[in-house]
Amino acid sequence: MSSYKIAWLPGDGIGKEVLEATKIVLDSIHLSADYIQGDIGWDFWRTEGDALPQRTIDLLRESDAAMFGAITSKPAKAAEAELVPELQGEKRVYRSPIVRMRQVLDLYICQRPCKAYAGNPLNHDENVDIVVFRENTEDLYAGVEFFPVNSDVSEVLAEHSANFASFKDLPGDEYAISCKINTKKGCERIARAAFEYAVRNKRRKVTIVHKANVVRSTDGMFLEICREVAKDYPKIEVDDANIDAMCMWLLKNPLNYDVLVAPNLYGDIISDLCAQMVGGLGFGCSGNISQDMGVFEPTHGSAPKYAGQYKVNPIASILAAKMMLDWLGEEGYADAVESAVAEVIAEGKVRTYDMGGDATTLEMAHAIAAKL
Ligand code: IPM
Ligand code: MG
Repeated sequence: MSSYKIAWLPGDGIGKEVLEATKIVLDSIHLSADYIQGDIGWDFWRTEGDALPQRTIDLLRESDAAMFGAITSKPAKAAEAELVPELQGEKRVYRSPIVRMRQVLDLYICQRPCKAYAGNPLNHDENVDIVVFRENTEDLYAGVEFFPVNSDVSEVLAEHSANFASFKDLPGDEYAISCKINTKKGCERIARAAFEYAVRNKRRKVTIVHKANVVRSTDGMFLEICREVAKDYPKIEVDDANIDAMCMWLLKNPLNYDVLVAPNLYGDIISDLCAQMVGGLGFGCSGNISQDMGVFEPTHGSAPKYAGQYKVNPIASILAAKMMLDWLGEEGYADAVESAVAEVIAEGKVRTYDMGGDATTLEMAHAIAAKL
């Protein structure tokens, strides 16, 4: 059995509590691993002007995998106002550390399984089993934004497009631009990840999610490349849908869907929708994955209003640890953790508040650990 180096990044708010709960479960399987604490989140923004300090990036680079809790993000202006006095007035722009982590480490796959466990009173349908593959580094998350828009940019756009005519005479602070940037490489590799997953896990179908009827250049390219990649996987059925229709169909006929592949923002949106179908954010987990690194996290945020109460459901985070175990090649442990979660849900004796019970975060963790 190998010994793993696992970066442990609790972050803010309930991130700390759900990771504490997750550690109880990991300890009970006796995985041979060192867990190294890493700094991320709001406190480091306030005191150092960087919510994802370089030392944490270095730690991630030298670790086999990481568990990440959650971070609190605030709009850029509010974030800047909370810097300690020594850092006030310096030019620092707040950007979400999780988005930056995905980009700096090129964690281009965001894999989000949404599976209903029998007996969960929050299930929309007991048989939902959908896996979202969200492109994780580009698209509207590219971070290329303009506000106010300077004249260099507006001049280029005025030359480029007749559609820009209605904006071009506006003062630069009367409009804002966020660029949706997608590369062929980015589309290709997320499509391949989705189809490879489908083959390896005996999945039936991949559905490509886009808005190619309107957003023609970027989503048109995404759709076309996904369809090209699909040809290499003739045994997997493939279809596609516009993001808006997809939200409707997912709710109406969730059992028609299996693996979904989407550009970054649409993937963000449908993964919350799919998580809600299997019990809400207390059950949604993610892996941010590249060829050689995986950072695993519950999909939920830091929920400041619940922070410190040990009230929230740790299952999302525990299932993220299950994903980490799978990714490390420890399928035996991964299956054991998943079965333990499934058993506790099915028994219905220990339930956190979201499931209609009054168990605490750590009671839920201990109940799961007791099955291992
Ligand atoms: C997610 C979250 C993040 C995202 C936020 C916290 C930046 O919503 O992981 O889905 O938009 O990707
Ligand atoms: Mg999200």
